[in-house]
Amino acid sequence: MEKGVFVTGCDTGVGKTVIAGAIAASMKAHGLDVGVMKPVASGAKEIENKLVSGDAVYLRKIIDSTDDDALVNPILLKPPIAPTIAASKAGIPIDIDKILKAYEALTNRHDFVVVEGVGGLMVPIDDTHFVADLARKMDLALVIVTGDYLGAINHTLLTIEYARNRNLRIKGIVINMLKNGDDFVREIEKYSSVPVLGTIPFKENVSVEDCIYGDIVEDFRREIDISKIMRKET
Ligand SMILES: Nc1ncnc2c1ncn2[C@@H]1O[C@H](COP(=O)(O)OP(=O)(O)O)[C@@H](O)[C@H]1O
Ligand SMILES: [Mg+2]
Repeated sequence: MEKGVFVTGCDTGVGKTVIAGAIAASMKAHGLDVGVMKPVASGAKEIENKLVSGDAVYLRKIIDSTDDDALVNPILLKPPIAPTIAASKAGIPIDIDKILKAYEALTNRHDFVVVEGVGGLMVPIDDTHFVADLARKMDLALVIVTGDYLGAINHTLLTIEYARNRNLRIKGIVINMLKNGDDFVREIEKYSSVPVLGTIPFKENVSVEDCIYGDIVEDFRREIDISKIMRKET
């Protein structure tokens, strides 16, 4: 079995947090002890006089995680801008070792850890690491979240090309907020040769900002075979 999964996206705002949350909750419903992680978050928000990552809050809440904030989200940057720019403005470099230690603690504690990436695979984390390097160092396979928007095929194929270039394993693609039905799914599968694990429509009752899950987990479990994400292929 895999020890976790790295949820990346073809862009920011495509639904990484929603899909990572649905994967985590589905694994939990399957009987696993699950952890969640948002290694680097920019755009902190203040809740009860405390700065937190909205993504980390959403991910923790969907599985009732009791892990410390410091493990779930070791790097929290206030401005809602690219991590390296936010870090340099704050004068604090992003410490990769701190991230990897937190990840190790979570994997020791849980059967399965769902890690949400930051933006896409080529978002810089420091002078020598991109998000793809985090996935490699964690030795996790990718689930790539894609949105159904003009430009998404290009973004998705570029993401897959780069993942392959970096020898990252790809579990498959989840198409989120699907609008253009089978045509879009077929194009993605045809040109990428990566399986589409499933599709999720736009759902009125889902919001990361307000921590509203609606029935996303039930939808996800109906649509996506989580054993494909869980099982380690030999
Ligand atoms: N299937 C969906 N239905 C409705 N709204 C969605 C869906 N997926 C994501 N969203 C909304 O779209 C926005 C971006 O999703 P999010 O998961 O935060 O993306 P990312 O983590 O890739 O930046 C959020 O406001 C979220 O609530
Ligand atoms: Mg997110």
